[in-house]
Amino acid sequence: MKKTVITFGTFDVFHVGHLNLLERAAKLGESLIVGVSTDALNISKKGRHPIYPEGERVRLIQALRCVDEVFLEHSLEQKLEYIREYRADILVMGDDWGGRFDWLMPWCEVIYLPRTPSISTTEVIERIRT
Ligand code: CTP
Repeated sequence: MKKTVITFGTFDVFHVGHLNLLERAAKLGESLIVGVSTDALNISKKGRHPIYPEGERVRLIQALRCVDEVFLEHSLEQKLEYIREYRADILVMGDDWGGRFDWLMPWCEVIYLPRTPSISTTEVIERIRT
């Protein structure tokens, strides 16, 4: 059976840690769906406006060869609805979320992938600032 993988994130100031995560997620199945956090969700989640607005972040992720479909994620609480809507077999998250989505295991496989060390959007913004 062909497997659909779903993952979520803000993917602001796109960097190689994001690419590594998406490429590894794609290899776990036949198609990769990505939920990109809205600007409003990012503000509530991380307490700051993203540098790139949601429409631009969606376009950047959609342009990647390893990504099949992109949608805007409006709420962290709707993971199950999104998993059902896109008929996802596997939820992939970075291990900074380790354990947080285990409650979805009755509906799909949940896999936490190790983060790429030493890079993050926050760190890139800080590096440019200083
Ligand atoms: N990610 C990763 N390795 C990194 C940075 C991010 O694997 N070095 C993964 C996250 O675990 C998540 C996805 O990429 O699954 C999107 O992460 P996001 O929160 O958008 O990026 P960060 O760089 O972690 O952003 P911030 O610094 O704003 O928290």
